Amino acid sequence: MTPLTNPAVIRASLGAYLEELRESGIEGLPVDASYDNLQQVPHGARTKDLEPLQAASAFEGVPHHETLEQIRKNLGECKRCKLSATRKNIVFGVGNPKARLVFVGEGPGADEDEQGEPFVGRAGGVLNRLITAMGLTREEVYICNIVKCRPPGNRDPERDEVTACSPFLLRQLRSINPETIVSLGKPATHTLLECNDPISKLRGRFRDFHGIPLMPTYHPSYLLRSGGNSDSFWDVWEDMTQVLQLLKLPVPDKSRKP
Ligand code: URA
Repeated sequence: MTPLTNPAVIRASLGAYLEELRESGIEGLPVDASYDNLQQVPHGARTKDLEPLQAASAFEGVPHHETLEQIRKNLGECKRCKLSATRKNIVFGVGNPKARLVFVGEGPGADEDEQGEPFVGRAGGVLNRLITAMGLTREEVYICNIVKCRPPGNRDPERDEVTACSPFLLRQLRSINPETIVSLGKPATHTLLECNDPISKLRGRFRDFHGIPLMPTYHPSYLLRSGGNSDSFWDVWEDMTQVLQLLKLPVPDKSRKP
């Protein structure tokens, strides 16, 4: 098992673990005075250790103190990749520049390309319902994608496109400096965590994105494809419950579906 070193990820993991204990009826834990800081807890003492994964390496070099406006201006009428040839609008991102929570999706679809705003089509409807079910609004969070122009035919973004575009995403994330990130689906999760594990394996536990706890979950389009009553909805809701707990926000009644 890889040792935990990042305090934010340790806090997220421990918070989720304690919440699980509380829900299962355990209301207190004996305190051992010799464990006066977390680094002294032997590895393997807990069942829900996070697996820190190698993160988008370039993030370390991303400057602080840029505003989203400056980043948007620097992006300009971008022609850094071939998606620029077929897009109608650049879809930069939307929401609170100081959001505590950022959702990162895959890339604009036809509706988003038309309107220049992320998640305004059918998948956006699902994401909106999820955000509302969490007791939040679109204006409170920030929503963006790993690529800012529509891949033709809604195919997955290709490697060169992600390589050209992701520096702007990393700058947005640095600027917003959220307390947590939710990556929606495989391309977003794999890009941010630089790994190839299936999303079904990655979801459900916080991962370390350069000190920011990142929760991978299923993409809203997957939920649409898998049908309204699917278990995947509940998996996503469980993931969002952990996010709300991390943010110390109330968790709405679990009988409500996103
Ligand atoms: N799917 C995405 O990943 N992003 C959008 O903006 C819309 C649909």
